[in-house]
Parts: sequence; C-alpha cells; structure tokens
Amino acid sequence: MRSRSTLLPRYYSVELVRRKRVSSNLFLLRFRVLGRLHVEPEPPQFVMLWVPGLEAIPMSIAGYDPSDEVLEFLVKPVGSTTSKLAEARAPEYMGVYGPLGKPWYPSGRRILFLAGGSGVAPILHFARKRCNGRLCHVVFGAWRFDEVGEIPSLLSSLGVSVTTACLDEGCDIKGTLVDAYKTLSVEEYDEIVVSGPIEVLRKIAVERKQGIRHYYILEAIVKCGIGLCSSCRLPGTSLLLCVDGPLFPHHLVEEVLLEA
Ligand code: FES
Repeated sequence: MRSRSTLLPRYYSVELVRRKRVSSNLFLLRFRVLGRLHVEPEPPQFVMLWVPGLEAIPMSIAGYDPSDEVLEFLVKPVGSTTSKLAEARAPEYMGVYGPLGKPWYPSGRRILFLAGGSGVAPILHFARKRCNGRLCHVVFGAWRFDEVGEIPSLLSSLGVSVTTACLDEGCDIKGTLVDAYKTLSVEEYDEIVVSGPIEVLRKIAVERKQGIRHYYILEAIVKCGIGLCSSCRLPGTSLLLCVDGPLFPHHLVEEVLLEA
C-alpha cells in the first residue's frame, strides 16, 4: 500500500488518453501514468507538466483515478504550452513531476468553494476526495455563459451542489463571482476555499465576511518544486508556494492579496 504522506516528488511519463472540450475555453485532459505513482495525490496538490519541445508548467490536479492510474488536468489555452495541450491528440506522451504542494484537509463539515474559470481544477479534485460525508457547495464564476459549459455537470456528478455566475444570460446569478459572494449567507458554512485569478482572490479578501475561515489557492512561478530555488516565494513573506501551499489561510496571505 502506498504512503499518503508527503514524499519527495518524482518524474513520470504519461500518455494522453483523452482530451475533451468542456466549455468554450476549457479542456479536460486525461493522462495515464506509465508506471505507478509513489504517493496518491491529494487536493490541492499540483504537478509540473512537461510538454516535449516546450516547457514544464504547473498544473493543478483536477482528478486522480487510482484504479487505472489516470490523472486529470483542466487546461485553458492562454500561451504556447497550454495551447499545445488544448490541441493535443491521444496518444501523446509527456512528462509529469510531482505531486507538489501540501494536501489540505477541511476541519469543517460544510464547505463553500468559490471557483473562477480554470481555478475550478483543484475544486474538482476536492469534490471527488473531500466531499463524501460533507456538505459541499461550489459557486463557479465565468465571464460568459459559454465558458461555463459542462463544469456544473462535472461537479454535480461528484455529488456537490453548484451555483453559476456570469455576466450574460444563462447563469444562476448575473454578475461576477465576487458579486455572488456578496449575496451569500456564509454563516451556513464552516470554511470557504477560493480558487481563481489573483484579482478575484484579492477582491474576496477585501470583501471577506467575518466569522468564517477563508482559504485561498494561489499561483506562482514554480521551478524546482521542492523549496530550493525561492522562485515561488510569496512577495513580502517567507512562504514558498511549492512546499507551504498552494492553499493558504487568510491571515497568512492577507497582505500578499491586498497588494496584488
Ligand atoms: S519552486 Fe523552487 S522554491 Fe518553490
């Protein structure tokens, strides 16, 4: 039986077995690990995904199926590497280095997730692994309704309830994720996890409602992934995203977010 503790990351070859467009700007990629992961990845851990001929980029793990050693990633094409991933055709071979970062285990029973765009990737992993026996609700925000796509049904299939927010017609709430947050009755929850663009995290930190624990999943430039190079240090702190994060409680990153 494999350890669930945090171990040093390792390199793996992976084979793309499926790529599916799940919204107008998000693709769900499934990779089979050629071998066996030495440790089961836990949310919100991530990996460095190496695309041959291009670069290695940090990718949140959106799902892991131990029965067939399949890792899932949610890709939004914004640069050359993510665009290549979004166009990849199975079978294609790439590399993975990980898992990286610290697992996080909610202490409460009622968890609210606020996810913006591709920031929903680690929330999919949370839904799969942490929501059994808990009351989990996800508010998923996007700019346009066509960017919402199949994300709500993916989340619902994992047993969590979902509210959508976008700026045009079709979503449950017409407005931004932050607008949706302002209307919520947060006292119904024990903990709130926010994942998405830094601007969304900053606005939630500014609007933060008192009396409930808030956590944020941050992004940074990651190189070594094991705490050696400081490239992922959060500005003005001694925190390293690759070993201390990527999820941080409000009090540790309030200044980072407010100055972002
Ligand atoms: S990526 Fe090198 S210390 Fe985090």
